[in-house]
Amino acid sequence: MDSRFDGIKRFEKKVWLASPTMHGDELKWVTDAIEKNWVSTVGENINESEKLVQEKIGRKFAVGLSSGTAALHLAIRLAGEKLYGPQPANVGTLLGKKVFCSDMTFDATVNPIAYEGGEAVFIDTETDSWNMSPEALKKAFEIYPDVKLIVVAYLYGTPGKIDEIRKIADEHGALIVEDAAESFGASYKGVQTGKFGDYSIISFNGNKIITGSSGGMFVTDSEEDCHKVRKLSTQARENAPWYQHEELGYNYRMSNIVAGVVRGQMPYLEEHIASKKRIYERYKEGLKDLPVSMNPIPDDTEPNYWLSCIVIDKDAMCPHVRSEKEVLYKSEPGKSCPTEILDVLASFNAEGRPIWKPMHMQPMYRNNIFVTTEGILRGRSNAYIDEGVAADVSADIFERGLCLPSDNKMTEEEQDIIIDIIHRCFK
Ligand SMILES: Cc1ncc(COP(=O)(O)O)c(C=O)c1O
Repeated sequence: MDSRFDGIKRFEKKVWLASPTMHGDELKWVTDAIEKNWVSTVGENINESEKLVQEKIGRKFAVGLSSGTAALHLAIRLAGEKLYGPQPANVGTLLGKKVFCSDMTFDATVNPIAYEGGEAVFIDTETDSWNMSPEALKKAFEIYPDVKLIVVAYLYGTPGKIDEIRKIADEHGALIVEDAAESFGASYKGVQTGKFGDYSIISFNGNKIITGSSGGMFVTDSEEDCHKVRKLSTQARENAPWYQHEELGYNYRMSNIVAGVVRGQMPYLEEHIASKKRIYERYKEGLKDLPVSMNPIPDDTEPNYWLSCIVIDKDAMCPHVRSEKEVLYKSEPGKSCPTEILDVLASFNAEGRPIWKPMHMQPMYRNNIFVTTEGILRGRSNAYIDEGVAADVSADIFERGLCLPSDNKMTEEEQDIIIDIIHRCFK
């Protein structure tokens, strides 16, 4: 380690990006399930956690599932059936259909489109929310007016401009699948995320704002959709004396043990959000003299502050080249880059993470269409974003951005050291 970091001691206990924070109630409900022998995919914990989630979001129904990805798959399957009708078991409901989808997100947002045989068309990101750009979406509808489904994710707990996206969707008779996996507890114009989609989901993955150790939920106001998701998630058994199957089902239901963890976490959602907000604000204050900006919070949104991120000013980036799996950078006085900061943090036992690598840059989706505010953009992979290239906001944020340690068990003292380390990266 170079002399810029002299005097800083390695954290004895790792400072995590975002780890589960348990409170004790989880154990109570898990134990209750075990003692009563309700350990499978039915039981009070499931019923209660579904009730708590639907009340929090303001939806009529919630269905506990094994993961957010499972919830997205069923949401997309339902959307496909509604739009194009039921399909034979070996044919996805979206076979050959284009679906507009957020570009800068985790690939779990996108994969279920492929599970259903659809073709994701990626929509560029906007700088002011780091979410799907309504302008790029408009452009995409100009090019593909017949598209009928939009899958929208909210990045790092900050809602996107969902009312603008809804307006555009309605103008084209398109449905919205809302991926609120990262944003449970966040609101837009006073309304909770998870309330905006024709089909909406949240995740209880271990690193989320609250966790079930794993798990996710489908949330809806439609009783019919709620029943359908329950049925599909339990192998699509028909109501018959034997195992009768008329359509393709899955083993996607949440277990009553996982639901016990969710039930135990629910009372702490607001506390987690408050501590994440403090972390975000302390970074914002502590880094304000550096050539960096925090992930933006647009007007009308109240994020859950799941992850605090920064993006480095263009002229403060040191030379930084990424290949498919490796990276090279050259440290320069007054400058830094995401990899340098992540490397240095790791060397002190603190965990950060690069921004989600945009889907249009991923080898498996690189040949899919990518639409920016300027139209279809082709041929961009890992190239550095040159000055003057207005489009491809996703690639630019990936290039210059990173997620900082955002664990709600990080102490103020630890966060101050992280802030100090980041300052020294720019020395
Ligand atoms: C945006 C987004 N969508 C979907 C998922 C999938 O959720 P899960 O891990 O519960 O399957 C995640 C996180 O894991 C996510 O961050």
